[in-house]
Amino acid sequence: MDKIAQAAKLLEREFGPDWLAIAQQLGTENLRKRVGKELTSFLAFPERGEGGSSTWRGNCSPEVVSSVLKYVLDTKRYYGKDISQFTLLDPMSGSGTSKAVADRYGVTSVLYDLNPAPAAGKGNWNALKNDVEDSADLIFFHPPYHDIIKYSGNMWGKPHPDDLSRCENYNDFLEKLNLCIRKFYMALRKDGRLAVLVGDIRSKGQFYSIQHDMMRMGEFESFLVKGQFNCVSDGRRYEKPFIPIVTEYMLLLHKKDVFMVPFHYSQNQCFSIAETDLAALTWHHLIRMTLESAGGRMSLTELYVRLKNHPKAEKNPHYKERIRATIYEHKDQYIACGDGTYRLTYQVA
Ligand SMILES: C[S@@+](CC[C@H](N)C(=O)[O-])C[C@H]1O[C@@H](n2cnc3c(N)ncnc32)[C@H](O)[C@@H]1O
Repeated sequence: MDKIAQAAKLLEREFGPDWLAIAQQLGTENLRKRVGKELTSFLAFPERGEGGSSTWRGNCSPEVVSSVLKYVLDTKRYYGKDISQFTLLDPMSGSGTSKAVADRYGVTSVLYDLNPAPAAGKGNWNALKNDVEDSADLIFFHPPYHDIIKYSGNMWGKPHPDDLSRCENYNDFLEKLNLCIRKFYMALRKDGRLAVLVGDIRSKGQFYSIQHDMMRMGEFESFLVKGQFNCVSDGRRYEKPFIPIVTEYMLLLHKKDVFMVPFHYSQNQCFSIAETDLAALTWHHLIRMTLESAGGRMSLTELYVRLKNHPKAEKNPHYKERIRATIYEHKDQYIACGDGTYRLTYQVA
């Protein structure tokens, strides 16, 4: 038996069913605590902790809220700021985890949710239609991860058209999420922070990175990676190769200036190599890709025809000679088949 398996056995014998959480806690400690800090860019809470409800699907560990709240309070204290009226706002509060944490620290909390009867705070509050009347020093925003868990019509009430877990598609979700980010940023007080907890998702085999695609407003203070433990899907087995998502992310955005707003907006775009010339695109790349597009084999005449109108060829009156010379210069990559056609040295996927 190797040492890891031996240690697992020993821990199980000593601590019973709790052994795994203890091992995970120990195993992640080196990343969770560094240079004398309790909060690092790696979060891991194998044991959820008290507050909110573990039965509310998509709930977060109170320790996540606690870590960021403690950090913001410590920072304010360090810089001599008054925290007597510190307010934590959670606009999509689910099972009320944030209230439990705010109570633990003795700070005021304001909670909203679209759910008409939430565990705590104001219900029937619609992030897409209603204004944020309150202001806050820390907004903890934990939206649905697109449609991975449906809230209205599942966790509560009837399906609601403005429920962020019921968007038409990923782009619709992103647009609505970005509207929320803008709204919540506006509700921050000066020196306030917006902490957004999101997870990337895979839907119908397609990977979507919410943390990458979403809008950021304010100074990007930190990007924290959180390990996901005890997920519903952990017990499933899949044959198809893919990379399971086992992390979530917290983006910490700081409102330093009242009026000046740094922001980052990401846009997905696509271009066709068949119609574009780039400094990075050599003749060799272009010929290789053109052969790939035809299954890996083509005659010189076909190559001339296919590339005649490419911007690279339009700039070069001797493009046919260039094509021939490129093939000649890369003998190890293009194999002459003897019938006027050339093929690639590898099978095209
Ligand atoms: C991921 S859950 C929050 C979980 C929470 N952090 C906890 O620990 O229980 C997301 C919440 O967003 C709420 N929600 C979805 N769309 C909303 C909207 N348009 N306005 C306000 N709340 C919304 C859902 O009802 C759900 O409770």
